[in-house]
Amino acid sequence: MSKKLIEDAKSKFASIVEGELRRVEKMKKDTGRIDYSSVSPIIIGVCWGDGIGKVISGHAEKVLNHVLKSEVAKGKIKFKDIAGLTIENRAKHKKAIPDDVLKEIKSCHVILKGPTTTPQAGDKWPNIESANVAMRRHLDLFANVRPVRIPKDGIDWCFFRENTEGAYVLGSKGFDVSEDISVDFKVITEPGAERIIRMAFEYAKNNNIDRVTVVTKSNVVKTTDGRFSRVAFRIAKEYPKIRLDEWYIDIMTAKLLDPVRRNEFKVFVLPNLYGDILTDEAAQLQGGVGTAGSANIGKKWAMFEAIHGSAPRMVTEGRDKFADPCSMVRASAMLLRHIGFPERAEKVEMALDVCGLYEKKMAITGRETGVTGDEYTKYLLSWIDNPKLKSRWEEKAK
Ligand code: IPM
Ligand code: MG
Repeated sequence: MSKKLIEDAKSKFASIVEGELRRVEKMKKDTGRIDYSSVSPIIIGVCWGDGIGKVISGHAEKVLNHVLKSEVAKGKIKFKDIAGLTIENRAKHKKAIPDDVLKEIKSCHVILKGPTTTPQAGDKWPNIESANVAMRRHLDLFANVRPVRIPKDGIDWCFFRENTEGAYVLGSKGFDVSEDISVDFKVITEPGAERIIRMAFEYAKNNNIDRVTVVTKSNVVKTTDGRFSRVAFRIAKEYPKIRLDEWYIDIMTAKLLDPVRRNEFKVFVLPNLYGDILTDEAAQLQGGVGTAGSANIGKKWAMFEAIHGSAPRMVTEGRDKFADPCSMVRASAMLLRHIGFPERAEKVEMALDVCGLYEKKMAITGRETGVTGDEYTKYLLSWIDNPKLKSRWEEKAK
């Protein structure tokens, strides 16, 4: 009996290794990134998601449409409605992303994606993989970029979370070896680590930042995290003006709460799961996960989303209209910058700061005590169009 279990385990492990060997070869062959200045029209696909996703992605799309009005009129930008990325449709097809939906997504250049429900053991949905994780893998969106800023505390962090490997990608390929033993896999590859670490260093270089922090647990998870750390120190040699320091994930979660030290950190680069956890903590310090946007960037496609989930409880309690749209609006600003509209991205970000941090005429609290997402979006739009936006922002930001 144990012989059969071992044979089964061996063949499952072999197929994982085969898949990873193929993926590494593909990564090595990947050519340069898409240049949006030569693309016309640029197609922005909008996936509405589930739960509060439907509401807040609507608000973000409204903001995007507003600031891109003239390009949409000229046909330089096109919005494409992608309807099928709902939990009902995914459950019906028993697929994280149904084939026709994936085809639609791939026909776009960039995606604005509302939060989607990830089934978990014991709930009413079939236990399909997360749509986020699947999309990141299918489109090879290897860099999850998550900025967090708290100007009053001098905090300006940018997290570069590896998005296609680590504990995540193979999480859904784990298996029960026997009635008593479960195994999951974590993989870090040389080209996979290199591309995210290089992106973090390039960001630091382009923004005159002299320090990059790699976060691992390489003292314990020696093989995979050990590789991630080794690659970081190898790449660092190419950037003599930038200092690389390594921190372990446990102490790093503590350091984010240290008011004396935390603003010394600027750029973080970290494997998938640590990035998932640390960015929620960072976003909470900024004002809640509802305030943080996220870019998922690959060589060919990019996807922009909130960093949080679909909050089904808010919907059952009838509070979806009070959901904070700022995470999705921040993600839209990142989308604008990515496709070559940095000034408009800045405008949206300045309006978010003026409304949320400086003027604070309205508050969004997620319940009746605050305004609705609709009202807040109108507030944001009024500042986006206000000629005094920049001076108001500068007055406070300095
Ligand atoms: C995130 C989310 C996702 C993740 C979930 C929804 C699968 O928490 O984007 O951080 O864990 O990556
Ligand atoms: Mg997360």
